[in-house]
Amino acid sequence: MIISSPSDFREAAKARLPRFLFDYADGGANAEATLKRNVADLAAIALRQRVLRDVADIDLTTTLFGRRMPLPVALGPVGIAGMYRRRGEVQAARAAKGAGLPFTLSTVGLCSLTEIRAATDGPLWFQLYVIRDRAFMRDLIATAKAQRAEALVFTVDMPVPGARYRDAHSGMSGPNAPLRRVLQAMGRPRWAWDVGICGRPHQLGNLTPVLGRSSGMNDYMGWLGANFDPSIAWRDLEWIRAAWDGPLIIKGILDPDDARAAVDIGADGIVVSNHGGRQLDGVLSSAAALPAITKAVKGSIPILADSGVRSGLDVVRLLALGADGVLLGRLWLFALAAGGESGVARMLALVEREMRVAMALTGVRDIASIDASILS
Ligand code: FNR
Repeated sequence: MIISSPSDFREAAKARLPRFLFDYADGGANAEATLKRNVADLAAIALRQRVLRDVADIDLTTTLFGRRMPLPVALGPVGIAGMYRRRGEVQAARAAKGAGLPFTLSTVGLCSLTEIRAATDGPLWFQLYVIRDRAFMRDLIATAKAQRAEALVFTVDMPVPGARYRDAHSGMSGPNAPLRRVLQAMGRPRWAWDVGICGRPHQLGNLTPVLGRSSGMNDYMGWLGANFDPSIAWRDLEWIRAAWDGPLIIKGILDPDDARAAVDIGADGIVVSNHGGRQLDGVLSSAAALPAITKAVKGSIPILADSGVRSGLDVVRLLALGADGVLLGRLWLFALAAGGESGVARMLALVEREMRVAMALTGVRDIASIDASILS
């Protein structure tokens, strides 16, 4: 399969993965309207072509949360990435390190913070979901600190999991799911060997201290629903703040009032996100929500954004709408599934190249100059 653009990895991943894993990554909530909107709204943003502006030297560097980065991009948190390639989170973290970019480890990754840190000393962010056992949560935050995570990304748009109907059809959940998954795996021998056999243990590494061996891979979404704490509220920022003294980024903001609340409570950053269309179907795309949030809080704390990014061009579009940085989700998961560490490295290089071309053709030479003036 020929890979020439970042989105080409999706088809390559589809050919390699059992259906339940491809659909889990590719799908969204309910009728997947927001999922589609995320991509369509970004694609519809018209850029302004400018000419003869001397774009010989283009500088993509930026500083986020005290770290100088070659691109305003980070790998966002993706649960169970280790099911997509052998010890997948380690491979992605290594690729991110190679590119000088942060890798965000999900609470529900297969690899633990300790496993990641043993494998790479690259920039690491840790994403927090809050499960009901608060004492354990404090321990987990302490582990993130001990393993030198540079930022805590607190995801707030999943007090309950969204309705992912595709999962019941694919065998991720639903009747006879374990049997259906085994049958699908038999049809994907490369995956079955790499992940099914050599990629063990298939447990949620960060949560094994509380869960033991029953870390919910058999009914992953059911497990999330039963164990996540839906009582989570703004007041919880207090104990999280007390446990974590580094940069705290609140992920899953889609409303200007919530963005202001995050600033008021002392967050160090926000991620404008609808979780890639996986939570409340029918909400605005990130691209549509971003301008009002930019108006409300731009300049007070860094605004990151994700959802629907399929190219370097999309990264530039989100920056033009006011984002200071962009998280990649499915883009890196599919690159990982298709090509492991080198797949993710290749995808990041393609994103960088597309950003460079987009900047040259809109006539901007540095990241700070990307704003609404490059939009038509
Ligand atoms: C996610 N996302 C996510 N977010 C989070 O905070 N913690 C998590 O564990 C996960 N897990 C997860 C799994 C999978 C398979 C996907 C596709 C996404 C959401 C993710 O961080 C990000 O917000 C979206 O992926 C962005 O949308 P796009 O760019 O992938 O369309």
